[in-house]
Amino acid sequence: MQVVDNLNDLRDKLSQVRAQGKRIAFVPTMGNLHQGHLSLIKKAKQHADFVVASIFINPTQFGESEDIDNYPKTLEEDKKHLIEDGCQLLYLPNKQIMYPQPDLTRVQVNHITTLHCGASRPGHFVGVATVVLKFFNQVQPDVAVFGLKDFQQFRVIEMMAENLFLPIEIIGVDTGRAEDGLAYSSRNNYLTAAERETAPTLYATLQKAAAQIQQGDSFDQIIRQAKEALHQAGMTPDYFNISRQLDLEPASEEDSKLVILAAAFLGKARLIDNICLTRS
Ligand code: PAJ
Repeated sequence: MQVVDNLNDLRDKLSQVRAQGKRIAFVPTMGNLHQGHLSLIKKAKQHADFVVASIFINPTQFGESEDIDNYPKTLEEDKKHLIEDGCQLLYLPNKQIMYPQPDLTRVQVNHITTLHCGASRPGHFVGVATVVLKFFNQVQPDVAVFGLKDFQQFRVIEMMAENLFLPIEIIGVDTGRAEDGLAYSSRNNYLTAAERETAPTLYATLQKAAAQIQQGDSFDQIIRQAKEALHQAGMTPDYFNISRQLDLEPASEEDSKLVILAAAFLGKARLIDNICLTRS
């Protein structure tokens, strides 16, 4: 695996790859890679001949109260995992490369960014969309791979690609989970041993809600019970919403393609997860 830390080297390398007629897949990350991230690399390999990953802890997607300086950094480990899973090029830009001065441009995807995580983290998705579009323009991949664990992020990027006619196929990968159901996340590092025992309650609560939807229970009641269950387990729910997959708006009992989205605080961590379901 080759490692590049500047745009000229990235472009030189990728123009050689393109000249060989190879299809390029791109997987952006913020590092501290776990099995969930690595499943994206594996999926990327299935869709392309050459896989590029990036590691960049993007400052514009963190709020002022969010601790970007303590975001976990495990570069040497990350490189080993990327090599094992067949990543061919790792791009490690710094802040000056991603946000050269004067830095005046932002990408705003309207509406779906104001709901769910967007409501709790104002500006977060502007930072995500901006950095992802910058990466897309730098790498110019044929395919880009994102995790469905961050379902709202996935929809924001799909929408941006569609609205701006980006010639990039956006692929989503199912959430990687530990055996007890907890979605892999860099934020799980913030959990104490006792909190780690409690954390699978988030997914269990989503599964229960999905089953209740299939039984035809009222959405209001399902949401009330789910929040109560999270409280009982010692978590503080941030939101628990039943939405339409298409536009992430609140679903009605008539909609069929649904996503249940949840975020909850547990100790120092804010965990998010979701389940997609088609109502039978
Ligand atoms: P990060 O949190 O590092 O995640 C990188 C990619 O891994 C995202 O597409 C995310 O959805 C995916 N991912 C994380 N946990 C996963 C899991 N358990 N299963 C499957 N996929 C998982 O998301 C970001 O970084 C940033 O916002 C980024 C897109 C890189 C822009 O800065």
